[in-house]
Amino acid sequence: MKNIYSNIFPLSKKMLNKSISVLKNGNVIGLPTETVYGLAGNAYLKRSINLIFKMKKRPKINPLIVHYLNYKNAENDVVLNNNFFKLYKKFCPGPITFILKKKTNSKIQSIATANLDTVAIRFPNHRIIRSILREVSFPLAMPSANLSSGISPVNAEDVAEEFKNKIKMIINGGRSKIGIESTVIDLTEKPKILRPGIVSPKAINKILNDKVNLLKKYKNIKSPGMFNRHYSPGIPMFLNRKTLVKNHAFITFGKKYKDKKGHFNLSKNSNLKEAASKLYQTLRKIKKLKYKKIYVMSIPNKGPGIAINDRLKRASN
Ligand code: TXA
Ligand code: MG
Repeated sequence: MKNIYSNIFPLSKKMLNKSISVLKNGNVIGLPTETVYGLAGNAYLKRSINLIFKMKKRPKINPLIVHYLNYKNAENDVVLNNNFFKLYKKFCPGPITFILKKKTNSKIQSIATANLDTVAIRFPNHRIIRSILREVSFPLAMPSANLSSGISPVNAEDVAEEFKNKIKMIINGGRSKIGIESTVIDLTEKPKILRPGIVSPKAINKILNDKVNLLKKYKNIKSPGMFNRHYSPGIPMFLNRKTLVKNHAFITFGKKYKDKKGHFNLSKNSNLKEAASKLYQTLRKIKKLKYKKIYVMSIPNKGPGIAINDRLKRASN
């Protein structure tokens, strides 16, 4: 496909060096990760963090995830604990984010963490961001590269469409394979999942030997990003539907549903991981085709299905 966007670049040695100097100077760039694309900035620089919030139009009370190459690099910023090491060993680098206590002498900008005494940290598994993290002496604050409350981007082109000419540089790493944001788990006390993802509660329980719950009610806004309305395509969505309503879009799952105008199948093989990876891409496509309403059939609520249903519910709020 021809690159019609002047701000999307492949990763060459030259672009790697350019990304590093841009980040050092406090500017932000779009970067691929295995989950979704992120808007990356130097987590130790106030200017970068302010820019991220401004570009995303993100409420200041919603903290960012800070990304590192490995746990050694995070040791000075957060208090690592036993549960962390167990999960790190099994799932990192990969699609899981840990909420941990922030060290008092941490260099992370306090506005990045919305002045909380905790930090969300992640170790992304994508060669491009890892090659950048290897070269810099700071971690990357990086929310999903979309305007606040919208659909997360899974391609470089999605990022370009979100920010238009306001973003100067996006590194193209192809489609994000997982396609849905990382699992967020709070490890500051008894482990709790704040945002479901591909790493399922079942897989986590197996490692921790514990019954980890999905947090349903957020009393003191533990994760402000868990605002009810989120991941929204900006079109009315109706869940758990059985049939297509004429002239509207119908998101299906499973082999029973054939290719038909208006039908968008997330996985003909009833594979929930595949369905998760196609969710945002499908919502974006439906939006571009200018459908006025989206109907969605019910998706099995297990494994990756838990994360899909979480996003669908918020998107339809
Ligand atoms: O897969 C991902 O996690 C992607 C890629 C780019 O790494 N990032 C991402 O970031 O989804 P964002 O900003 O879109 O979502 C971060 C979530 C939000 O729900 C936020 O509220 C929560 O993590 N979070 C961040 N810091 C937190 C903290 N200290 N305590 C509780 N929740 C926190
Ligand atoms: Mg986001």
